[in-house]
Amino acid sequence: MPKNISARPGEPPALPDYLLQTYSWAYVTPRAVRRFERQWLLNLILWGNFARLRDAALACLGERLQGRSLQIACVYGDLTARFAARHERQEQLDVIDVLPIQLDNLRRKLGPASKVGLHLANSAELPMPTASYERALLFFLLHEQPLPVRLQTIRQAFRVVKPGGKIVLVDYHRPPRLHPLHAVMALVFKALEPYALDLWRTPLDAWWPADMPPAQVTRRTCFGGLYQIVEVIR
Ligand SMILES: C[S@@+](CC[C@H](N)C(=O)[O-])C[C@H]1O[C@@H](n2cnc3c(N)ncnc32)[C@H](O)[C@@H]1O
Repeated sequence: MPKNISARPGEPPALPDYLLQTYSWAYVTPRAVRRFERQWLLNLILWGNFARLRDAALACLGERLQGRSLQIACVYGDLTARFAARHERQEQLDVIDVLPIQLDNLRRKLGPASKVGLHLANSAELPMPTASYERALLFFLLHEQPLPVRLQTIRQAFRVVKPGGKIVLVDYHRPPRLHPLHAVMALVFKALEPYALDLWRTPLDAWWPADMPPAQVTRRTCFGGLYQIVEVIR
């Protein structure tokens, strides 16, 4: 079982309603995990960009990582294994997720010898101490969360990363109207990922916590503007 470091010690975090109601097909059931734990499928969902976005996130985080890192939420595919390999010792990397089944799946992928810390926790109420990490990664998490949860998740990421540390966010971004996938993605989001359209309407900058303004923000988009890679220095 994943180590439970719920904000309420002894109690596992409650499963967020939006995960059960909107994302059951993707993350919650054993069938969902079997279906999506295929890198080729992720790559298809990201229009052939999985490796490109994974490598861009890792490049932002750095080649040889000192100190502690936090991955906020599990990701299908080999992102976490590659992130862990950039540390001198695997135990420098912690991963949190609110679903035990996702942490179990990640444990299986990493193998029995892995020392990556896997923790059952809600991104919106991280139980980690303030300023306890050098860096944090959020890979396609924010578009899945309703606004109040998203704001808390960003706030928690800012809280647990030390001033001067780095937060890397990779997610959807509004492409220009003439982008060949504009209409398709709008339909996909309306049907399956209702909160994702927020990221088309609003730049991430609108959601930084007012009382912890970032020291520096670097943004770029890729694949014609459909994805964004944002680096924040706390
Ligand atoms: C990072 S997101 C999307 C990743 C990407 N689509 C992929 O390929 O896996 C998916 C993960 O976020 C987790 N998650 C969603 N809401 C969460 C929350 N409030 N706290 C912690 N984990 C959360 C889900 O359980 C799931 O494992």
